[in-house]
Amino acid sequence: MKSKAILIMAAMTALSLSAFAADGAEVYKSKCASCHGADGAGPMAKKLGSRDLNSADFQKSSDADITTITKNGKGKMPAYAGKLSDDEIGAVVKFVRTLKK
Ligand code: HEC
Repeated sequence: MKSKAILIMAAMTALSLSAFAADGAEVYKSKCASCHGADGAGPMAKKLGSRDLNSADFQKSSDADITTITKNGKGKMPAYAGKLSDDEIGAVVKFVRTLKK
């Protein structure tokens, strides 16, 4: 009886873990904010040639463009393909959208 209860609990834990989608805000904070800043207007990325990610001009970029740059990098921007999962990249692209001023 006891082992059955443990099994059920293990199954429930596994289910609730898989229900956690990648957290875009968390990915951004840990991987991107050092250059792009918490608000998207980080002085480091700007110095290296990036537009502010919260600027209206940048926000005209399509999700596909943002995904490609995040995956493949560009100039001094590091590539994240292989470092982040597609789920995480999708989530961080969504988060970048929320930075819009
Ligand atoms: C080492 C600093 C650095 C880190 C860390 C970094 N970036 Fe960048 N990023 C840059 C630079 C520099 C550019 C400008 C590249 C160019 O155009 O030459 C850039 C450009 C971009 C662009 C395109 C901006 C434009 O002007 O069109 C996007 C989108 C972007 N980064 C997203 C991200 C995301 C998402 C992350 C985290 C997963 C991230 N970056 C992490 C430095 C960084």
